[in-house]
Amino acid sequence: MTQAWDAIAGEAVRRALACVDGPAYTVLPGGARLPQTSAPAVVGGMLERLEVEPGHRVLEIGTGSGFSAAVLSRLVGPGGHVTSVDIDARLTGRAARLLADDGCRNVRLVTGDGTRWAPESRYDRVIAWVTPVRVPDVWVRQAAPGAVIVTPVHLAPLARAMAVVRLRRGAGPDRLAADLLMPGGFAEARPEPHDQWPVPSYGVDALTRDAAGRMWWVAAEWLRAHEPAVGMRLLELMITDGRGGTGWLGAVDLHAYLMAARPEGLTTAALGDQGWGVGCSDPGGVALAGLSGDLFVAGASAAAERLDGWALEWRERGRPGMADLVPRLHRRGSGWDVRAAVP
Ligand SMILES: C[S@@+](CC[C@H](N)C(=O)[O-])C[C@H]1O[C@@H](n2cnc3c(N)ncnc32)[C@H](O)[C@@H]1O
Repeated sequence: MTQAWDAIAGEAVRRALACVDGPAYTVLPGGARLPQTSAPAVVGGMLERLEVEPGHRVLEIGTGSGFSAAVLSRLVGPGGHVTSVDIDARLTGRAARLLADDGCRNVRLVTGDGTRWAPESRYDRVIAWVTPVRVPDVWVRQAAPGAVIVTPVHLAPLARAMAVVRLRRGAGPDRLAADLLMPGGFAEARPEPHDQWPVPSYGVDALTRDAAGRMWWVAAEWLRAHEPAVGMRLLELMITDGRGGTGWLGAVDLHAYLMAARPEGLTTAALGDQGWGVGCSDPGGVALAGLSGDLFVAGASAAAERLDGWALEWRERGRPGMADLVPRLHRRGSGWDVRAAVP
């Protein structure tokens, strides 16, 4: 049977993935799946971009089930080493036992905030499975010259406006270049263990639950100049007046384009049990495109017309998607913001 990762991973990553007994890491004794687990296809795609070679020293942030650490252990081989950090001691303890049973003697498990600290070493490769607010300096400082870093990032200061970026460190820690973006999103890195994964910890401007307990949130930079009540009113409108419509084929690419173009009014939002969307909002309403292209509109405002205009621009520019965008790095505080440009 063709595995999902065949399309995205090369020979070495495919072999390493095939060697690991995934369920041994990701399935709990009662049969449920450990929530902090990445899908093998996602692990394969990101590890392919990491360009791991035998003998490399790898820093992994977000051990989770230990599955990706087991794959990395095979990729670096007996001459290499993996340091895997997770904020949750229950997970590093569990992964340590599983990796030992699996014979992975080249993996060290560490409990802590991997966005702030990692055991000192000159890592050849750094991979994160959680999204930092910005790429932290500590990863770049602890990386060796020529090191590759693959991490999810926010392309805009809005919840879920995410992509995965590949970075290459030059001779000095201030010499960092970004050469690739791919679609992908992970939960945000947290300063302490957390079980509430569906609630974004970054970039949300108003959040509520409807009568059935379903979560709704909205994120838009214009909301930050207003009282919190404005965001709550918008959510109320979305819950009580939300209606669907036909949107656009290729909405994932439209999302990527909008995260790069960042037009005034750009909005991300979670829609109860209807997934989430990217689009436009103003105090009178919202218009959002869901992942499958469905349209979600609430209120009476110019938002739908403006979103139509943005989609037209996107089509006129050849429908660029994430892989067409050019990553740009901006030094900010103790790290680097990643933004995207439409070529
Ligand atoms: C998507 S899971 C990792 C999945 C893992 N790659 C696998 O194959 O199962 C993300 C993990 O990051 C951890 N995490 C969250 N914030 C963190 C932080 N600040 N430092 C280190 N780990 C963190 C979470 O506890 C969670 O286990």
